[in-house]
Amino acid sequence: MKNNSTLLFILLCFLSLNISAQSKLTLQPDSAQTKISKEIYGHFAEHLGHCIYGGIFVGEDSDIPNIHGYREDVMGALKDMHIPLLRWPGGCFADTYHWKDGIGPRQKRPSIVNVNWGGVTEDNSFGTHEFLNFCELIDAEPYININVGSGTVQEASEWVEYVTSSNVSPMTDLRKQNGREKPWDVKFWGIGNENWGCGGNMTPEYYSDLYNRFATFCRGDLYRIAGGPNIDDYNWMEVVMKKTSRYHLAQGVSLHYYTFTTGWTDKGSATDFGEKEWFKILNNTLRMEELIDKHSAIMDKYDPEKKIGLIVDEWGDWFNVEEGTNPGFLYQQNTLRDALVAGINLNIFNNHADRVKMANIAQMVNVLQSVILTKGNKMVLTPTYFVFKMYAVHQDAELIPINLECNDYVVDGKKLPAISASASKKDGVLSITLCNLNPNKAESLDIDLSDMSFSATSGQIVTGENMNDYNDFDQDEKINLQNFEVKKPKNGKLSLELPSKSVALIQLK
Ligand code: AHR
Repeated sequence: MKNNSTLLFILLCFLSLNISAQSKLTLQPDSAQTKISKEIYGHFAEHLGHCIYGGIFVGEDSDIPNIHGYREDVMGALKDMHIPLLRWPGGCFADTYHWKDGIGPRQKRPSIVNVNWGGVTEDNSFGTHEFLNFCELIDAEPYININVGSGTVQEASEWVEYVTSSNVSPMTDLRKQNGREKPWDVKFWGIGNENWGCGGNMTPEYYSDLYNRFATFCRGDLYRIAGGPNIDDYNWMEVVMKKTSRYHLAQGVSLHYYTFTTGWTDKGSATDFGEKEWFKILNNTLRMEELIDKHSAIMDKYDPEKKIGLIVDEWGDWFNVEEGTNPGFLYQQNTLRDALVAGINLNIFNNHADRVKMANIAQMVNVLQSVILTKGNKMVLTPTYFVFKMYAVHQDAELIPINLECNDYVVDGKKLPAISASASKKDGVLSITLCNLNPNKAESLDIDLSDMSFSATSGQIVTGENMNDYNDFDQDEKINLQNFEVKKPKNGKLSLELPSKSVALIQLK
């Protein structure tokens, strides 16, 4: 009898182990009611290191193949990735930038010192026209960040007029003199950047008053974005919402959250890491969800109808700079770990698309978690690039709410959910993006498709042999987009094995 009960106990343990090994994703298509703004897939280009100069713009006289000074290879890659939106000129640079320095004949533009980023000379050869024409060429919406920290209200209001007005005025005359007859269609305007720090070290009360003043004089049918909190500064969010919402002058409030390994002074290596650092970064990445939930709860108090967007206009990994590079240029490599960070964050933004209306990974080329790296005339597409390319299917699609029950990924007794997911539907195609955070083990997943019926399936995947694999110059690509074979669903259920350390897209139609 005793032996029998022991056997039964062992059998039950075995069964329960097997059961817990199966993760389950349930889709709730009947509750779909939110569009995933394509702007969630936005990017950010600051006058910092080789993001603009060398990364995007090389000038017409360069040996590097270019169109009007813009790198052809970079433009082609951005279009292929379906970049929907680009933020410019900063960042901290924005609150030192005087836009009139960057218009008119290039040889007459003044050179200034880029005080935030390496103290290098900024010759202003890339200015308003160069930025907006670039956006037209790559088919991305522009998002301009106005100088509040060291600029004037008049300067800000004139910039908006110069760019967007079709009236007759000194500013529109100046624009025409500089070769642009018609206004540009620029909807998104940020008013200040990190005004709690590099943008002026202000209190939230002082900034909010300034915001209302600047926003009043930035006229037109604009989407104005107030400079929001750093990470978990909930008081900043509270004060900004309270003081700006009464005038209805802010259509969005920003949030900045970067992921470090250890802390601000030692941010860890981008490429030289083990499982401890892998776990830490993914754990820190998942914190984005808590930040969005808590900031949204504050926004809900002042804006219950969710008209004001949470704009995560700086996010991504921030590691120590690569050896031998200028510490002020923030140049870092990008591994499979960064692909996971991108996939997880984008799933979180999708799932909160009712409040998150835009997000901008920092930064597009050669700075922090870039999608593209360049060296002279060479270009590398990073693992993060392939995640953005794969996830583009979610842009402007209808979010399908999900319920995910999954195993834990455990390191040193600490655990994380092993899977991250989001789903959407567009033009009759259901797209599910999945990340397996576990670098050691494939995850079995059952997807309950409810009553939806499909006849064709397809899949793509970003994964690699090692967690710190990356793409480098003069080497074959180690990480890119691969086909991922997906079986047909059976009885409303799709079963798959998600390889370890991977980001995948499953599509059904
Ligand atoms: O993206 C680099 C810098 O990080 C930005 O200039 C600033 O806004 C943030 O602190």
